[in-house]
This record gives sequence, structure tokens and C-alpha cells, in this order.
Amino acid sequence: MSQTILVTGGAGYIGSHTAVALTERGHNVVIVDNLDNSSIGAIETIRRLTGKEIPFHEVDLLDSDALGAVFDEHPIESVIHFAGLKAVGESVEKPLSYYQTNLISTMNLLQQMENHHVWQLVFSSSATVYGDPEILPIPESAKTGPTNPYGQTKLMIEDICRDVAAADDRWQISLLRYFNPVGAHPSGDLGEDPQGIPNNLVPFVMQVAVGRREQVNVFGNDWDTSDGTGVRDYIHVLDLASGHLAALENIEAGCDVFNLGTGNGSSVLDVIKTTEHVSGQAVPFEIIERREGDIATSLADPRKANDKLAWRADRNLEVMLADSWHWQSRHPNGYAESES
Ligand code: NAD
Ligand code: UFG
Repeated sequence: MSQTILVTGGAGYIGSHTAVALTERGHNVVIVDNLDNSSIGAIETIRRLTGKEIPFHEVDLLDSDALGAVFDEHPIESVIHFAGLKAVGESVEKPLSYYQTNLISTMNLLQQMENHHVWQLVFSSSATVYGDPEILPIPESAKTGPTNPYGQTKLMIEDICRDVAAADDRWQISLLRYFNPVGAHPSGDLGEDPQGIPNNLVPFVMQVAVGRREQVNVFGNDWDTSDGTGVRDYIHVLDLASGHLAALENIEAGCDVFNLGTGNGSSVLDVIKTTEHVSGQAVPFEIIERREGDIATSLADPRKANDKLAWRADRNLEVMLADSWHWQSRHPNGYAESES
């Protein structure tokens, strides 16, 4: 059944792809974002791809009254909450800013939802809550132990959601722990557009392939993995978007948590080689020392989401990187087209 869904952080990487998927499924999407880490170009692209004049409010979730006004204006029935700060290194340097933004925004959102009798919430958590995993692949029941303030905010928000749902049985909350989102919309017009030097592997590799940077620095080849480089569970952003639809469609009373990953691991060298293959470009790299805080392997056990949400991530690494390359090669400077 068609719903009116508030998407916080809908101008961002995962939110924009999810907003398109929700609209294509017939839902009415309302976006709020303060454009702190995104641009109005993403909103324009969402509108163009869907052919819908999707309402957008430039609102900071720290401003509870402004957020409340969005609930007053639209008949919102459920919320997907992407908005927040997400850079691990920055969170170590500016912990207060991360705790302030991520926690207070979410509490404002929960309060406004309660005020407006909106009880369905899907929240962007992260595999980072597992820290250095003891079991691989990682089930939802694994021990949590984030190793940085960003990860702490995710775990704290999960706990807040559990407490809120336990106190009032009208709440229906799904916490989604994403593994490593990559890829882009097949149009090549919606994608990841990090500000400054990318922290994450795939955007960095793409900027090398397109000629914006000289080489990839590979953070160590002495990890306990098949080729010595770090292994991650990369997941196509479109599979992640469909995971949000599945979570909403199967949401139940209380608060439940799901891993969203493929269950397959790829090393840093797999990513570099596959990018060379799909792009036809050389991707020079150099092995340097390990990055502080990194782990050898992160791999989801996605069976709970497969079974309870009837959802599966199907797209393989080649499709993910081909779509990332399509976006990067069409938009070498992201949404800032004029910079070329
Ligand atoms: P993103 O930065 O592209 O999107 C987040 C959006 O939230 C941005 O558009 C930003 O402008 C907005 N925002 C930030 N603070 C805000 C505030 N106070 N008020 C309103 N808007 C605000 O990030 P993304 O990669 O799309 O991630 C979306 C969510 O998924 C985040 O919560 C992130 O922590 C989580 N997540 C991301 C990854 C990843 O690797 N990309 C992995 C796991 C979890
Ligand atoms: N890597 C490099 N060179 C780079 C960047 C990364 O060798 O320039 C390596 C890393 O050492 C790691 C792998 O590539 O082995 C992936 O690194 P990313 O930074 O892309 O991803 P992480 O798994 O470290 O972290 C990401 C997000 C976190 C999130 C986590 C789980 O940055 O916020 O995935 O979802 F919590």
C-alpha cells in the first residue's frame, strides 16, 4: 500500500537512491536534509529520474521546531532516517560534534514522530557497531564493540530505539546494519559524491581511474586474508535501497535489527583489479602501512534479512564497480559539474 514516507538525509548517497526506489514503488516521499554533506543537485536528479516533484525541505534535524513543521505540513506515516555524520576519522577528532549531531538529531526525530503519532522507523545503523569481529560471517547476535565515536553513536541510537520501543508498543522500528555500500544508479546520474579526499576505498579507486588522483594507497598487505589486503562485504546501493523497502514492508511491533550485506568478501586488490577490468583504465597502487583502527575482514551473515524480510543482495562486485565507474566517468567532479 502506498505511504507518505519522510526520508531524512535524502540528498545523501544512500538516501537519494532509496528515495528513487520508494517513489518507483508508488510511495510519496518527503525529503529533509541540511545539505551538510550533499548538494541540491542530488534532489534535482531524484526529481528528474522519478518524474515527480518530490517535496524537499532544507532543515537541520538539530532544529526540532523546523522538523516539527515538516510533520505538520505532510501526512507522514513512516520515516527512514539516514541523516547524520559518518566519517570515522573525523569522529575521532571531533567526538562532541558527532555525539551532538547524531544523537540529538535522532532524539528530535523520535520526539516529533511521537508528537505526530508516527510510529514506523527504519534507521541506518552500521556494521561498524561490531568493531573487530570474533565470528565470521557476523550474525546480528555477535558481540558489539565499536572502536570510534561514530560507531558509538550508532550503537547508542540503537539502544535509544530499543528503549523507546520497549516503553510504548505502538512503535515499529527496524535497525539496519549496512556493510560496505558502493555502486550507483544505472543512469550514471546519481552516485556517491564525497567532499574532499575520499576516506573510503571505492570512491578513491574511482577518482584514480578517472585521473583525478595518481594512485591508490593500499593500507597493508600483511593482514590475515587470502591476498593480505583487507576484505569487506561490498553491497550495491540499489540492493541496500531495496533492503529499506523490504524492511518497511515487513516491519513489526517492537525493535528488530538486521544485517544488510551479501555474505561475500572482496579484498582491496579484488576491487582494484575489477575496476581496471570494468573501466578499461589503469589503477596504479602502492602498498603502504596499515591504517589505524582497520580490521582484516568484515563479512555479513545476511540470513536473518534473507528469511524475515524476504530480501537478498544479488548484484556482484563487477556490477557494483561498473555502476560506480559509469557515475564517476559521466560526472568526474560529482554534482559540481562546473568545476571540471
Ligand atoms: P551521506 O553523508 O551521503 O548522507 C547523509 C545525509 O545526511 C547528507 O546528505 C547530509 O547532508 C545529511 N545530514 C547530516 N547531518 C544532518 C542534519 N543534522 N540534519 C539534516 N541532514 C543532515 O551518507 P550516506 O553514505 O548516504 O549514509 C547514510 C546513513 O547511512 C548515515 O547515517 C551513515 O552513517 C549510514 N551508513 C553509511 C555507510 C557508508 O559506508 N556509506 C555505512 C554504514 C552506515
Ligand atoms: N583501503 C585502502 N586504501 C584506501 C581506503 C581504504 O587500502 O584509500 C582499505 C581499508 O584498509 C579496508 C578497505 O579498503 O581494508 C575498505 O575501507 P573503507 O574505508 O572503504 O571501508 P571500512 O570498512 O573501513 O569502513 C566503511 C565505512 C564505515 C562503516 C563500515 C561498515 O567507512 O563508516 O564501512 O559499514 F562503518
